[in-house]
Amino acid sequence: MNTIMLSGADISTPCKAAAIINQGGLVAIPTETVYGLAANGLDPEAVAKIFIAKGRPQDNPLILHVSEANEMERFCHSIPESAYRLAEAFWPGPLTMVLPARDCVPKCTTAGLSTVAIRCPDNDITRKIIALAGIPLAAPSANLSGKPSTTTAQHVLHDHDGRIDAIVDGGPCRVGVESTIVDLSDGTPRLLRPGGITPEQLREILGELIVDKAVSASVEKDAVVKAPGMKYRHYAPDCRVVIVDGDLLAAKAYIERHFVPGNRVLCFEEELDIFTPFSPLAYGKSSDMDTLTAGLFAALRELDDPSIGTVFARCPKGNGKALAVQNRLEKAAGFQRINPRKEHFIIGITGGTGCGKSTLLHMISQLGGTVIDCDRVYHRLLETDEQMLSAIESRFPGVVINGILDRKKLGKVVFSDENALRELNAITHKAVKEEVLRLLPDTPSLIAIDAIGLFEGNLAPLCNRTVAVTAPEEMRIRRLVQRDGISEEYARSRIRAQRTDAEFARLCDFTLENNDTEEAFRKKCLAFLFGPDIIKAE
Ligand code: TXA
Ligand code: MG
Repeated sequence: MNTIMLSGADISTPCKAAAIINQGGLVAIPTETVYGLAANGLDPEAVAKIFIAKGRPQDNPLILHVSEANEMERFCHSIPESAYRLAEAFWPGPLTMVLPARDCVPKCTTAGLSTVAIRCPDNDITRKIIALAGIPLAAPSANLSGKPSTTTAQHVLHDHDGRIDAIVDGGPCRVGVESTIVDLSDGTPRLLRPGGITPEQLREILGELIVDKAVSASVEKDAVVKAPGMKYRHYAPDCRVVIVDGDLLAAKAYIERHFVPGNRVLCFEEELDIFTPFSPLAYGKSSDMDTLTAGLFAALRELDDPSIGTVFARCPKGNGKALAVQNRLEKAAGFQRINPRKEHFIIGITGGTGCGKSTLLHMISQLGGTVIDCDRVYHRLLETDEQMLSAIESRFPGVVINGILDRKKLGKVVFSDENALRELNAITHKAVKEEVLRLLPDTPSLIAIDAIGLFEGNLAPLCNRTVAVTAPEEMRIRRLVQRDGISEEYARSRIRAQRTDAEFARLCDFTLENNDTEEAFRKKCLAFLFGPDIIKAE
């Protein structure tokens, strides 16, 4: 399919776009929030094409876009008086209302819900297209599912060239984040998604407003949520995003410790100077929230590159429009937020078998610290975590029988196929990390995360310090033979299958070499634990 670009400045564009839509086609439309991927919202076949083009899960309903507030009654019933007041105050504009749907709205638009999300966007070209087409447009944000939203026609072209009929180029979007969604279908109004209309503005009209907990917390995949879209990973570039809170200097110190070449920093314009060594990209001014909402998605798209590894992101504080930025960034980061001052002091400990990690771990637990043994976590998850097992089973059919994993069978598949092993690791690393986060104590504590795969499992970014425990090979072999009762040859092959000490040392902030007596090693560990920061940080 040839995707045509229609200029917003051309007066024939609304007519052409409306014609394509009336023929059941897909047209990307500009709005004040983000670009939408539009089709005839009353035509199930046309709507189905949106789901295919976006790769969108079928249970995630679409917003119906109308050209005038009074069209609300054509598609919604039992409309409370408050909805009229909100429309009067904010339409056309970045507000979506969830209301009981009339039967004329097809089930595929509402994903089978009895309600429909409706909004009148503040963009003249798009309102003309809707009016000319004579039908409401179903339109999700035009990005591919899971990716950062599109705020320019070029973004849309990047995601959908050859997959949709046309793109209407209306220039960059003014607001830059998707509309605020408020649910008016059921008792007290509920904020489902923060956006350009703030909770404060809504409360002025509504009085009471509940903020749904999915706005600021991670939602389990199978949870029942009010806006189905909230449970999916969203807005995420193809690299890891970690939000670094705290004052500028504490954040800089944290980033300095964790930054490796290729990583990036996403920050405010005012911070560009201080982050110069860390390849910074600014998305707006912290003193002007409108610049942050307008710039966020373009920046996240620029960072959409798996070779970056980690993006350390600065996030605005406070209420109002800052909530919309926080919500998008938190979702992009999978809710991984670090406060370099107030959090736990986490030491990530890694190194090969037989190096003597347990000496250090034992000392940390004697000091009152919490030790999380990732190997044990992993084996427990293999036995108990249904979600992980079902992810393994759906990737490697036949390896889980009656809820029990056949490890030999799985081993046979993954040890001869590097890609399969990588996919298995992606599943297990994610589950282990989630479990580690769950195991962290509630009060600030000293914590040791013991993981041979500290880096592969993306656990290192959680740590304030990473330390490699290393030891000469002959010493390790002696220990393994004694401790595990295995042959020297087998001990040697186990060691050779792991990373080398030099690699562990290169990856970590510190190295503790266990190359002398037990007593000497204990002294080294103590010097490390009572050296700058760690014990004092408690
Ligand atoms: O600014 C916007 O709202 C943009 C532009 C194109 O209008 N559209 C947009 O659509 O962001 P989308 O599909 O990316 O996000 C719509 C959100 C999803 O989280 C969806 O689950 C939720 O609205 N939603 C749709 N219908 C709903 C309903 N009946 N009840 C609750 N949530 C609903
Ligand atoms: Mg979206």
